[in-house]
Amino acid sequence: MKNTFYVFHYFGQFTANGFNQADEFRVVRIRLANVDDLPAILRLEKDAFGPERFSDELAERLITAPDITTLVAEDGKVEAYVMVHIIRSYETGDVLSLAVSKARRRQGLGRKVMEEVERLSSDEGVITMMLYVRPDNVSAVSLYISLGYKVLARCRGYYPDGSDADMMVKHLEDRDHEN
Ligand SMILES: CC(C)(COP(=O)(O)OP(=O)(O)OC[C@H]1O[C@@H](n2cnc3c(N)ncnc32)[C@H](O)[C@@H]1OP(=O)(O)O)[C@@H](O)C(=O)NCCC(=O)NCCS
Repeated sequence: MKNTFYVFHYFGQFTANGFNQADEFRVVRIRLANVDDLPAILRLEKDAFGPERFSDELAERLITAPDITTLVAEDGKVEAYVMVHIIRSYETGDVLSLAVSKARRRQGLGRKVMEEVERLSSDEGVITMMLYVRPDNVSAVSLYISLGYKVLARCRGYYPDGSDADMMVKHLEDRDHEN
């Protein structure tokens, strides 16, 4: 199942005459990542997090781990990714990383990959999504709030440089997991 999931997302504006802004029309495919995506994911990590990024070894271990779901969004090349640790015994999904390339930020990609990974996580029985974010990361905090995440706790000295994190949680809507 892991390689057969595709979502097509259309960027552009519909008018009475159909799409009239051809230069804004793009199809973005969101799919499950595989090891071939590792170089692109590491590039996104480096751009977004600098020295705080995952090491190459850790990223490779995570992308192949059975309890980790990683999605990439691509339109020619990988422009965004999200990685979630599914903790089945607690019906919880822990968002380990989310990044969009600098050139493609504020175009809805971050929201879209989060929505898709929430949907997949819910299909796998996740009820609660959680994540950690720097309180001063305005873009990420705004995105999470707009998706329905709420701050549960401030975790003092959470990051390696000693700064605090906000732990945010969201309860996914109940879904019928029987089907
Ligand atoms: C955080 C991040 C993933 C957002 O991705 P994105 O594709 O730019 O976000 P979207 O275009 O989907 O924006 C969705 C919403 O998030 C909020 N948002 C995103 N960027 C914002 C910014 N710079 N300022 C304020 N709000 C912002 C807005 O509410 C936005 O909705 P709107 O465009 O309708 O106003 C991206 O900025 C990024 O990769 N940052 C570096 C890595 C990072 O911080 N990851 C999160 C670690 S916890």
